Amino acid sequence: MARRDGSRGRLTPAERDEYEEDLIAVSDRELDLIGDVRGLDVLYAGGASPLWLEGLSLRVGRRGTVTALDHDREKVEGARELLEDADLEAPVHLYAGDVFEPPFAPSSFDLVYSAGLFHELDVSEGTAGEALAALAGLVRPGGRLATSDFVDTLPAVQLEDEDLDRALARALSGSELYGIGPPERLVALHESLLEGVAWTVSPPRHIRHLDGLVLAGDEPDGLRRLPATTAEGLRRRRAALLERVRREGYTRPATLYLTGTPADRRPR
Ligand SMILES: C[S@@+](CC[C@H](N)C(=O)[O-])C[C@H]1O[C@@H](n2cnc3c(N)ncnc32)[C@H](O)[C@@H]1O
Repeated sequence: MARRDGSRGRLTPAERDEYEEDLIAVSDRELDLIGDVRGLDVLYAGGASPLWLEGLSLRVGRRGTVTALDHDREKVEGARELLEDADLEAPVHLYAGDVFEPPFAPSSFDLVYSAGLFHELDVSEGTAGEALAALAGLVRPGGRLATSDFVDTLPAVQLEDEDLDRALARALSGSELYGIGPPERLVALHESLLEGVAWTVSPPRHIRHLDGLVLAGDEPDGLRRLPATTAEGLRRRRAALLERVRREGYTRPATLYLTGTPADRRPR
């Protein structure tokens, strides 16, 4: 697996194997939900993790293509470096860009897929509906759109971690992340733009050794740039989160997978 993460030097080789096994299991579980994608041109929107891209490429196979779009240029370049020598099935094309204004012609892909995009979407200047509509416009007639994202129906330590990130982003830049909510919110969003929407929820998943990595991580840089009282409040929340991680380990939230056809993209 081509990868770059904080586990290097912090986990023993056996722990790293277990940690990787769990991350691969999570992405396999989600990617298996998209069904048979052999030979398709797939857009992976809002993500560039080599682990997910390798999983998609394997499922798409040599007759299709995978294109990834993420607005984090550094993440895209990191993925490019790591995938350069990887033995990929479908070629993977990487783009830095915004899902609100994707740099592709309309109707370019058979499948537009995202995994974990929506909760990190900044909806202070555009709505989640506008992002979904922009992605739906990239689907070819006869194609479909599928997304997976966290939901808050069952307890999971990462929910608090994400909420803290959201508060930090708001305090630092005024951004308003869509965040993690109940499944009904994402279902309603998709049903407003897609036809034949089907969905399923997968349970939370414990990731071995992610607790150790989180506990060994540094305080977010941005905290030092905030007014003292705001920083203090966020530090207290972080300390409570770390205490919980110590007690419970680290659990990924339940995930909602949705798929449907853009209303104007039925086969002609
Ligand atoms: C939780 S991560 C997704 C992880 C994903 N499974 C992967 O393969 O990277 C959310 C990703 O969405 C990206 N993102 C958030 N808003 C975006 C936008 N408006 N346009 C493009 N990418 C965006 C972030 O940069 C981040 O990489």
